[in-house]
Amino acid sequence: MIHISLKRLLFRVRSGLRAITSSCARSSENLFVHRDTPEDNPNIPFEFTAANKKRVEAILSIYPEGHKRGAMIPLLDLAQRQYGWLPISAMHKVAEILGLPNMRVYEVATFYTMFMRKPMGKYHIQVCTTTPCWLRGSDEIMATCKEQLCIGPGETTKDKMFTISEVECLGACVNAPMVAINDDFYEDLTAKDMQEILDDLKAGKIAAPGPRSGRFASEPKGKLTSLNEEPKGPGFGVQDGL
Ligand code: FES
Repeated sequence: MIHISLKRLLFRVRSGLRAITSSCARSSENLFVHRDTPEDNPNIPFEFTAANKKRVEAILSIYPEGHKRGAMIPLLDLAQRQYGWLPISAMHKVAEILGLPNMRVYEVATFYTMFMRKPMGKYHIQVCTTTPCWLRGSDEIMATCKEQLCIGPGETTKDKMFTISEVECLGACVNAPMVAINDDFYEDLTAKDMQEILDDLKAGKIAAPGPRSGRFASEPKGKLTSLNEEPKGPGFGVQDGL
């Protein structure tokens, strides 16, 4: 009897492990390990530009002695902005600046999905497909991107202009569905809006970011329904005894 239960237990543990392993591999577009490639290997030199070297100094000056490693994320971000993505040589440069083992930088660069460890298109289109955006039509937004660019999530167009990523909530759910293109958010989208934004980019124009529905930021579309009276002033509602 015990023998049978143990067998069942082992089966469940093994099934569970397989599920965890396969879901990790499917949900990530990037390998967590580095493989040397012709465009990404430690022999390709990386150096910050003169202008960025000044930025590096400015960033480092924010952090007190003994805590300079706090500058790691801003420095990696700066390297990525300069290069377009984050090659391993740039990670080594950041480790050198901070006086850390390379491994400490790998740990951070592989943890945060904002760091792109493979060549990216000039425009990185991140389509949010989490529940609020999905309920509001992110499937059509993704379909429009795929159709217009002839690539899928995780892929880059041959002319190196566009990369599509499928991402989790980017914190603009009130304006769902939305996409982020490089540093800009495009919100309250329809498939037609998405097509127009892509057409503009292909024509060398950058559409104005923000909601496409005509509303300001995340204000309600109609009239204000709350916070629409004069503020009561300091002390309002506080008990007399306080
Ligand atoms: S669910 Fe898409 S921004 Fe939050």
